[in-house]
Amino acid sequence: MKDDFKNQKIEFDYDNILGRILFPSEIIQNKVKELGNRITADYKDRELVIVCILRGAVIFLTDLIRNIRLPFSIDFIGISSYGINQPDSGIVKFTKDLEETIYGKHVLIVEDIIDTGLTISYLIRNLRSREPSSIEVCTLIDREVRRIAELDIRYCAFKIAGKYVVGYGLDYKQKYRNLESIYELKTDAVKKDIEEMKSTLNI
Ligand code: IMP
Ligand code: MG
Repeated sequence: MKDDFKNQKIEFDYDNILGRILFPSEIIQNKVKELGNRITADYKDRELVIVCILRGAVIFLTDLIRNIRLPFSIDFIGISSYGINQPDSGIVKFTKDLEETIYGKHVLIVEDIIDTGLTISYLIRNLRSREPSSIEVCTLIDREVRRIAELDIRYCAFKIAGKYVVGYGLDYKQKYRNLESIYELKTDAVKKDIEEMKSTLNI
């Protein structure tokens, strides 16, 4: 495993906003493999449905499922949560529902990042009412310091503290999802956005 990732080149920095690499692709791939092995062991002989939250978790999902050696199905659910450029509401709404029933099945939700936890706890409440046998969460990143909703996260690849991150599915204004590694956003890019937000909100 390479650990000299400070020397890795920054990929496509369209808006000059990428800061340092937090998790390089090799480290991500190793972690994903590890999670795949754990899930394979835990869900043996269970009817598993993997529910991917659109859009950020898609890249993580496609790598993860290729490391799970079991028969299972996948389904997608769309939820709109806040974006750094959409200081709208904290209101969570479904933009796409599951296509299959989860009644009596074991559900594993795959998410890109859990921050306040409001999005995923809303989703869990909704899915529970459909009476699956179990619901667990697998997240690429856990930013626990900002947690509001109480949550039990069974599988987590990485924990981070404050910074906003992009790459490997995670976006900044819908871009940068295609980066192989996970990057911090430069602090001045975040500051600029906060100033813009304040002026649109008139505060
Ligand atoms: P929560 O409801 O506060 O847990 O919000 C989680 C959602 O916010 C995630 O699904 C992401 O879409 C988005 N999000 C939170 N932090 C970041 C980040 O650092 N980069 C990209 N998206 C983020
Ligand atoms: Mg998301």
